[in-house]
Amino acid sequence: MKKIKIESEFEAYDDLKDLPQDIQDLMRAAFEARDAAYAPYSKFHVGAAIQLESGIVVKGSNQENAAYPSGLCAERTAIYYAGANYTDQKIKAIAISAKAQNKETLTPIAPCGACRQAIAEYEVKQGQSIAIYFMGERGSVFKSDSLSNLLPFIFTQEYL
Ligand code: THU
Repeated sequence: MKKIKIESEFEAYDDLKDLPQDIQDLMRAAFEARDAAYAPYSKFHVGAAIQLESGIVVKGSNQENAAYPSGLCAERTAIYYAGANYTDQKIKAIAISAKAQNKETLTPIAPCGACRQAIAEYEVKQGQSIAIYFMGERGSVFKSDSLSNLLPFIFTQEYL
């Protein structure tokens, strides 16, 4: 038997203003996206903004449904839109912000497992890391240089 240890590395910023201007702008686009969430059931609003290599920003928000599992998270709404409409453009970064309607969300909110798997697919597809920035409604921001810090033992096409 041997033990395997996996390390994850993140950067933690106290304030959005401590990040470069283009990332501040990207996160503000995520705030805008968040305000467009359709979340009447959870009342939890999530926005995601994706920066493509051309500088184009693609926004997505969570879209819920009365048949709950039919809804979709903000990150996947955004990344599937990017994948469908900008097929040959690499994704440089994704910024995510979440805000609950009935309480303050001040800690960074990480993407759910399914969204991590979806983002991972695009990292593999483009052969280049995607920087992930995530936060609550305000306050500190976490950054990871790659999705792989968020999802060890990623399931990839290599297994198929
Ligand atoms: N949600 C996201 O949009 N992204 C995540 O990574 C986690 C959860 C949404 C799904 C649902 O509409 C609401 O937040 C509550 O789970």
